Amino acid sequence: MTAPAPDTDSFAGRDLISMRDYKRDELLAFLDEATFYEGYQEPLLKGKVLASLFFEPSTRTQLSFASAMQRLGGSTLGFSDAKLSSMAKGESLSDTIRVVESYCDIILIRHPREGAARLASESTSLPVINAGDGTNQHPSQTLLDLYTVRQTRGRLDNLKIAFIGDLKYSRTVHSLIETLTHFDNEIFLVSPQSLRTPPEFIEELDARGTVYTEDEDFFSIASDVDIIYTTRIQQERFPDPIEYEKVKNAYRIDREAIERVGADVTLMHPLPRLNEISTDLDDYPGAAYFDQAKNGVTVRKAILSLLLGASR
Ligand code: CP
Repeated sequence: MTAPAPDTDSFAGRDLISMRDYKRDELLAFLDEATFYEGYQEPLLKGKVLASLFFEPSTRTQLSFASAMQRLGGSTLGFSDAKLSSMAKGESLSDTIRVVESYCDIILIRHPREGAARLASESTSLPVINAGDGTNQHPSQTLLDLYTVRQTRGRLDNLKIAFIGDLKYSRTVHSLIETLTHFDNEIFLVSPQSLRTPPEFIEELDARGTVYTEDEDFFSIASDVDIIYTTRIQQERFPDPIEYEKVKNAYRIDREAIERVGADVTLMHPLPRLNEISTDLDDYPGAAYFDQAKNGVTVRKAILSLLLGASR
């Protein structure tokens, strides 16, 4: 029997820190709510303020949250370079959050340290959204990824999904594979040996009975998949630059490679890309990576409205 859809009021005041905090029916409620926000521009969040605290670079996450907030009539403040905040003078993250909470209604934070968003949420009663904490999680990206999967494939179950590239450091992959354990899919994890998926995420797949295969060879799996989700090799996370040099060109997908594996593959990538997806794929019918970025605004409108308890 299908569980009844959760009441949207039940999201008010909650954090979005880890996909582990949300059940399948709640994930679907986010996606259903997002459908409503396609093109919606009413001032639902008039008077609400988003504090956007970025301790790492961002284009999509930061700007699409700002766009979502402003398109719903709200406003944003914050910083995109922590060196210009008082943390550069030694202020703790907890004190920063305790101060910022009196300037806003909801807090968005990206930080290089795993667990930083959770720490921030423990320092305030306001809703906190994790915009990426180190190599750990990036939940709003996962929601827009799921939204894009459902938009392009029409379903979230019975899919063969290959993740290719840096599976060790990619927080978008970690969040998404963990979330996919709520659905019935087959997963392929393709990476160099040194960039395999961390054990804690593999244990999660095992615990939830998700069918998966780990491999190094893209072509041994690619002919049989519905979705290829590629990631950048994350140079900034490597402790040893020589190790990065060894794997930086591990995978490069181009038109010729896709035409070898089949015609009906959806190509996803959280962006930014380096050289792992050739620009000759940008007009390939299954290329969905710029749609993902565009869907970021729609999905983030839903996230902000739900967590702020805004009724429509
Ligand atoms: N996908 C993503 O998180 O992109 P940004 O780093 O530009 O926010």
